[in-house]
Amino acid sequence: TSTGQDFKVADLSLAAFGRKEISLAEHEMPGLMAIRKEYAADKPLTGARITGSLHMTVQTAVLIETLTALGAEVRWASCNIFSTQDHAAAAAVVGPDGTPDNPRGVPVFAWKGETLEEYWWCTEQALTWPGAATGGPNMILDDGGDATLLLHKGVEYEKAGAAPSVDTADNDEHRVVLELLNRTLRESPQKWTQLASEIRGVTEETTTGVHRLYEMHQDGSLLFPAINVNDSVTKSKFDNKYGCRHSLIDGINRATDVLIGGKTAVVFGYGDVGKGCADSLRGQGARVLITEIDPICALQAAMDGYQVVTLEDVVETADIFITTTGNKDIIMASDMARMKHQAIVGNIGHFDNEIDMAGLAEIKGVVREELKPQVHTWTFADGKVLIVLSEGRLLNLGNATGHPSFVMSNSFANQTIAQIELFTKTDAYPTDVYVLPKHLDEKVARLHLDALGVRLTTLRKDQADYIGVPVEGPYKPDHYRY
Ligand code: NAI
Repeated sequence: TSTGQDFKVADLSLAAFGRKEISLAEHEMPGLMAIRKEYAADKPLTGARITGSLHMTVQTAVLIETLTALGAEVRWASCNIFSTQDHAAAAAVVGPDGTPDNPRGVPVFAWKGETLEEYWWCTEQALTWPGAATGGPNMILDDGGDATLLLHKGVEYEKAGAAPSVDTADNDEHRVVLELLNRTLRESPQKWTQLASEIRGVTEETTTGVHRLYEMHQDGSLLFPAINVNDSVTKSKFDNKYGCRHSLIDGINRATDVLIGGKTAVVFGYGDVGKGCADSLRGQGARVLITEIDPICALQAAMDGYQVVTLEDVVETADIFITTTGNKDIIMASDMARMKHQAIVGNIGHFDNEIDMAGLAEIKGVVREELKPQVHTWTFADGKVLIVLSEGRLLNLGNATGHPSFVMSNSFANQTIAQIELFTKTDAYPTDVYVLPKHLDEKVARLHLDALGVRLTTLRKDQADYIGVPVEGPYKPDHYRY
């Protein structure tokens, strides 16, 4: 670590390895590299101070260096305690032209295996800009909404003149956040209000973060405009689906090395993430079962050939349980108590509240042991063992390295375009939650075709007129669902 300097990562000597993987990733991220080229001269993000809270991986390093190539200054934290790749964090700090002794990249506050206290400290550091007039960023790039949440809670409590006492916290993480905000209220009672005053907007990466933004907008508490990057078609229909199709089994394999073929796997939720997860498990030869609450998604699952069940039907017989719902309390301790010996339990949804880890720890006689980092066995009084991945946090980033570069190039091209939109056309976006216009979504897709050898058919003028679209697109109405 690097006490005294304006960054904190695990080990700067990992930077050279990180840089090698970044150069491999750049080749696989044609969308981001094309955007760098397109805006190399203009540098539309000049003057932008972007605080990022997003998994600090190799792909994110390519995003960070795209934002800086476009003129932005950047400070970064991860959005999960287990998701940082330490070599990527080191390389982002050192930068392409620096050395570990003379780092010339960006301030990153992230390492794999943070405590909750460290996690929220890192988020605060990423939001705190030494030297800036308000002490903060003017743009946020968020994944799951923790940076946005900290800022909004800070402003709310500053308005009220006090934060709730830490005794009112309903869990560990809530307690840590309340401790932090009670401290900032004592030390700098207008910190968050001042900081929020200059923020032009936030671009949000994931379903769960977007959900929080719409809620804040509805109750009137949203302080600045937001672009919902998740619901670009080239994000949620690619990253959530094909990304998880790749990284779910990567996580299970690296964690357990269990043969997936022939096993019975339950996927909770058949949204975008669930669809990718189910496909990947089926691809390995598992018998895949789905649970759903939404009749449309349940019917989709059935038509795709999956049996749709309830947890109750299969809790005692299935081998692998994966939650993908973005909802809470999906697998409870009492369910885990009924699972069979050596069942594997994991979550790929954004937060760790899908699996009742607190309840599991309270079961009488249960013993938790670390098999290796992010893989734990839970032995019950009767000798039964459960294998729990990443302590219930998103296992594709905790046990593996998250989504591969090519799919993240789509997501991050949307992020970069959204940052440019909000930063350069601030007046066009009164406080609300927006999605990018379809022509930009189509642009992101276009940037990825050549790399895959796709030969697109050109629409003839008379054909375009016949279906009522411009020759150059957009090709679908906004209500089209893909
Ligand atoms: P989605 O809304 O498309 O899908 C969630 C599905 O879960 C819905 O179909 C919903 O009906 C279902 N569901 C809700 N409650 C349920 C319950 N009690 N039982 C069974 N099914 C239930 O959302 P999406 O995009 O699939 O995202 C899911 C989660 O994954 C979110 O938290 C999102 O932020 C996260 N995510 C994680 C990624 C990763 O790399 N780990 C990547 C992208 C998203």
